[in-house]
Amino acid sequence: MKRIHILGISGSLRADSTNTVILKTLGSLLPSDFTFEIFEGLDEIPHFSPGLFDTEAVTRFKTAIQQADAVVICTPEYAFGVPGTLKNALDWTVGTGDLSDKPVSVISASPLNSGGNNALASLLLTLTALGTRKNEASALSIPNVKGKIADGVVTDAHTLGELRAQCANLLNLVKS
Ligand SMILES: Cc1cc2nc3c(=O)[nH]c(=O)nc-3n(C[C@H](O)[C@H](O)[C@H](O)COP(=O)(O)O)c2cc1C
Repeated sequence: MKRIHILGISGSLRADSTNTVILKTLGSLLPSDFTFEIFEGLDEIPHFSPGLFDTEAVTRFKTAIQQADAVVICTPEYAFGVPGTLKNALDWTVGTGDLSDKPVSVISASPLNSGGNNALASLLLTLTALGTRKNEASALSIPNVKGKIADGVVTDAHTLGELRAQCANLLNLVKS
């Protein structure tokens, strides 16, 4: 039987990104019959403009989405919004509908109390426009993230439970 494949996309390009740590931790919580990869190369995707042809990086991004059974996006908030690099990459998928009906989990993490809620709300709107498959349990905001990770993994028990719940909800969406 084909294993369920999950694609992780981090909205942060930083090497020691807290959002990428969350994605990696979520990947480690998936059942062993899942496969998980984090997309590398968001920063190689050119600025989107309608009519431009896909570059190799764009094709790689779209192919990674197409080959995944579900997608998890974990992003920081910049200036109350979605990081431009992430929004730009998603804009490339509008015309080809790569995310259409794709089950998603959407996570924002922030060192602030707000948990990146503005970015989360904005990203959810974009993913609605892109026709992704999600429900009211598909979104998670993680405030005060710096105290919840150590040595490259999430250590906070409550957050680990929330990530497990995201995995379970995603599996249900894949099966629905
Ligand atoms: C230019 C800039 C703008 C930021 N704006 C926000 C913001 O609006 N809301 C917020 O919660 N955090 C904001 N932050 C803080 C980020 O959430 C923080 O740097 C976070 O660690 C970035 O995520 P990462 O660790 O995954 O790279 C901002 C950081 C920078 C550098």
